[in-house]
Amino acid sequence: MSSNIKLKGRGVNRIIMSKVMLSPLAGVTDNIFRRLVRKWAPNSLLFTEMINATSLKKGFGTQKINQIDLEEGPVGVQIFDNRPYAVSEAAKQAEDSGAFLIDINMGCPVKKIAKKGGGSALIKDRKLAIELVKNVVKAVKVPVTVKTRLGWDSKEENIEDFLFKLQDEGAAMITLHGRTRKQGFSGKSDWEMIARIKKLLEIPVIANGDIKNPDDALNCLKKTNADGVMIGRGILGSPWKIGEIDYAIRENKNFKEPNTEEKLYLIIEHLDELIKEKGDHGLLIARKHISWTCKDFKGASNLRNNLIRAVDKNEVKNLIKKMIKTLNNEKNTLA
Ligand SMILES: Cc1cc2nc3c(=O)[nH]c(=O)nc-3n(C[C@H](O)[C@H](O)[C@H](O)COP(=O)(O)O)c2cc1C
Repeated sequence: MSSNIKLKGRGVNRIIMSKVMLSPLAGVTDNIFRRLVRKWAPNSLLFTEMINATSLKKGFGTQKINQIDLEEGPVGVQIFDNRPYAVSEAAKQAEDSGAFLIDINMGCPVKKIAKKGGGSALIKDRKLAIELVKNVVKAVKVPVTVKTRLGWDSKEENIEDFLFKLQDEGAAMITLHGRTRKQGFSGKSDWEMIARIKKLLEIPVIANGDIKNPDDALNCLKKTNADGVMIGRGILGSPWKIGEIDYAIRENKNFKEPNTEEKLYLIIEHLDELIKEKGDHGLLIARKHISWTCKDFKGASNLRNNLIRAVDKNEVKNLIKKMIKTLNNEKNTLA
């Protein structure tokens, strides 16, 4: 099974050499987290958090796209907004920063965003959505892709017709989260509908929703015949997960996930990077990741509670080192 996904841009074509991609995740997929994910997934396409085009124009959020080209692998920049000119300008800025491709968010269900006409609201305002794609395709050379859902209120909205039009205007790939905006995260991602759409479109289709491990990914690829899969919540606390799924698809073998000690060292590494780049605010961001990673081992819940309350980086590190020592002592006693 070929793993390459070929995308057409107006001036630059791209080849993605892995079927497994990292979702754009607001508040999660910053450059530091992507660096961790990249260790296990050298070929995967990783997405930035969604970036608001209007804010970017005003100078906010530029750190989210700065120095993308220094990352060792493909990074897609996701933009959300409902103003075609602003989105095109932001896309150009992202392209200049080294974006592998530009993705337009047409799926975000958050009320604050949809109310202003961005994210999933574009599924309703198809004329504007099509204009957005048309403008961005004209503005940049790299491929322009769209991430969307199966409908606004229901799946009876002829989403296929909408996707055909996006394809006609030059969208190079569509990622489908198999739920409607109304569903949010409830119910199940409808892989059957993704399969139906995959059959109709000529451009690559990426399946998204409820893919958390290699079995899910293999099942989803088989059921949908999609060109790839995109992983969202499954990465939280498990930055090796994209690499793990990629390995299973590529090699048809099980991957050895980091052991508890390695996971604890990973927390320290992540924290150090966050503090180095973001100062004290880094600790706040680290807390979220710690609570996701610190699970499924003896003493995890206790450690997690202590770590969340820790007041500074040194206290976090000391608690983790103490835990590693306890684990090693237990191992030696058993040996
Ligand atoms: C914390 C969080 C942040 C998200 N941020 C974005 C985002 O910035 N852009 C986007 O298109 N989708 C975003 N999503 C949706 C995911 O990319 C993905 O479509 C959804 O979680 C379904 O995939 P999953 O079942 O693998 O999680 C977010 C989801 C979560 C849980």
